Amino acid sequence: MLNIALPKGRLGEKVYDAFEKAGYECPEIKEKNRKLIFENSEKQVRYFWVKPSDVSIYVERGAADIGVCGKDILLEYCPDVYELLDLDMGKCRMAVAGPKDFRDDPDRALKVATKFPKIASDYYDSIGREIDVIKLNGSIEIAPILGLSDVIVDIVETGATLKENDLGVLSTIVDISARLIANKVSFKFKGEQIKDVVSKIKEQL
Ligand code: PRP
Repeated sequence: MLNIALPKGRLGEKVYDAFEKAGYECPEIKEKNRKLIFENSEKQVRYFWVKPSDVSIYVERGAADIGVCGKDILLEYCPDVYELLDLDMGKCRMAVAGPKDFRDDPDRALKVATKFPKIASDYYDSIGREIDVIKLNGSIEIAPILGLSDVIVDIVETGATLKENDLGVLSTIVDISARLIANKVSFKFKGEQIKDVVSKIKEQL
């Protein structure tokens, strides 16, 4: 049985569709219920829904053999997993955003609110700018509006959240998309099955 961690939500549904088209269907997953684990013993697959930011934890520790998560999670947490495939879904970008008239004052540390402290620190290290990171867990856009931070580092997909809060992108850090990842031990012992999944999914993209 191949254990597959899918990110709960809209992206997860698209990802499952790709697995289904690749021949790894599990029809019960589409029924409206609160179940979290589904299996198709004939196809040798077991799917489970987890919080998107937890997928890499399940895969790194081997509770899942493979899974799908955003590149943002891989850059932030650096899990010890193999990144096998860019699924070309869940596309967005990691960006610095703030008030449109924002002017940086180089004489003091820049206050940056974010859910992604490592990505923010790595980015500002790379341009040699000292920052004060403020780690938040959501609704990051509020921080510069209330004066908690100067700018934010966050995911921008459609840009609607920024626009509706009178903020704008100041610079793009990196493009993000969903990635198929694998546990390193599973890749050794279930390598043939995993490679088969990867090649069949690739044909669907
Ligand atoms: C993400 C992100 C932005 C928003 C961007 O938040 O943190 O707030 O989506 O999308 P947009 O550019 O299409 O408006 P999420 O919905 O994950 O909620 P959160 O703020 O609670 O983390």
